[in-house]
Amino acid sequence: MSTGFSPYQLPAEYSEIRSATRDVCDAGVAPHAAEADEAASFPTASYEALRSADLHAPHLPAEYGGAGIDALGTAIVIEEVARACASSSLIPAVNKLGTLPLLLDASDALKERYLPPVASGEAMFSYCLSEPEAGSDAASMRTRAERDGDTWVLDGVKRWITNAGVSGYYTVFAVTDPQAGSRGISAFVVEKDDQGVSFGAPEKKLGVKGSPTAEVYFDSVRLPADRLIGEEGQGFSLAMRTLDHTRVTIAAQALGIAQGALDAARAYAAEREQFGKPIASFQAVQFMLADAAMKISAARELTYAAAAKSERGDADLTYFGAAAKCFASDAAMEVTTDMVQVFGGYGYTRDFPVERMMRDAKITQIYEGTNQIQRIVMARELLKGRAF
Ligand code: CAA
Repeated sequence: MSTGFSPYQLPAEYSEIRSATRDVCDAGVAPHAAEADEAASFPTASYEALRSADLHAPHLPAEYGGAGIDALGTAIVIEEVARACASSSLIPAVNKLGTLPLLLDASDALKERYLPPVASGEAMFSYCLSEPEAGSDAASMRTRAERDGDTWVLDGVKRWITNAGVSGYYTVFAVTDPQAGSRGISAFVVEKDDQGVSFGAPEKKLGVKGSPTAEVYFDSVRLPADRLIGEEGQGFSLAMRTLDHTRVTIAAQALGIAQGALDAARAYAAEREQFGKPIASFQAVQFMLADAAMKISAARELTYAAAAKSERGDADLTYFGAAAKCFASDAAMEVTTDMVQVFGGYGYTRDFPVERMMRDAKITQIYEGTNQIQRIVMARELLKGRAF
């Protein structure tokens, strides 16, 4: 394996995490990637491979039975899984997204109840923020939770929910005080089997087809009061604080997709001959490979710096999470497009993985906030003097 992953000398434990994850992915994830894409079905075999190596939710602390890997190590796991299969990388990424609101704000009782099944791999955890009419403008959500004695009654629709129907648990954001704007939103844990929960048909997507995306419907779902995560009215801030951390994981996913495409194109360019020589001997191809490596290196540094900030909880994480996600995903789109070009006509077919990687890269510019929203977040932080 190349040693050129970062000019900074990361402690040995991170190289060990990378090489252990790569071994698991080479043997148990990469072989199922094309099939998961083609069949648009959840890669159960990949999930089992990740689960047996404790890589399906690596961020969960040891006290809940998790591997206790920090934010940088988790980013490296996600990067390596995405290098093999972007859909499968949404297993550790979305398990982190779904559970982070609990880790940040939930009571001990809620954490002790819901985190161990995720750590053991018995259940996955999804995150329900977006709605049909509330995408970038997340605070305009309409899903309503009304207090009724010792319970909350939940009604509404969430859209674009990653791993919907496969996950056993869901962090759901809902309006608890319609007069209070973004301060009238609260977060709840909802179980797949709660009465009144149902799922829409899977979305027919361009990429990450092995990761189901669907609507989630809540029809008078009655939740015990102790399912509230943190304090009433703090849900929007919790949703945003969660995304500050998890945008780093999307940056890592983008990075892995780009690295996978570069690795495939580099090997192909060395073998494919035209005009009597390997195409790697032509500058036109060399420049595309060099540009790809340059963009990946820069994206990796920013992503790892943001991961360190996520681990420390630095005040400028909001800026760095947005910057890493935006930069790495734009880089992944450029790199995968160019790597398809290196393959020429072959790159446009499903006989080679770069076609899938280019389709998969696109979503990283869209979810967990479009890159236009990331630029708004960065500009606000900059202008308020909270970054730089
Ligand atoms: N940390 C803590 N609090 C924050 C915060 C942060 N990062 N960002 C905002 N807040 C707080 C603000 O301080 C403010 O609090 P007060 O009322 O107490 O002052 C409150 O939240 C409202 O903030 P804004 O006025 O900035 O809110 P806004 O309505 O202008 O929205 C936004 C800001 C950045 C555009 C936000 O709506 C946003 O991030 N939109 C994108 C949504 C998104 O990322 N969706 C992703 C869905 S999940 C997904 O995609 C998962 C998947 O499939 C894998």
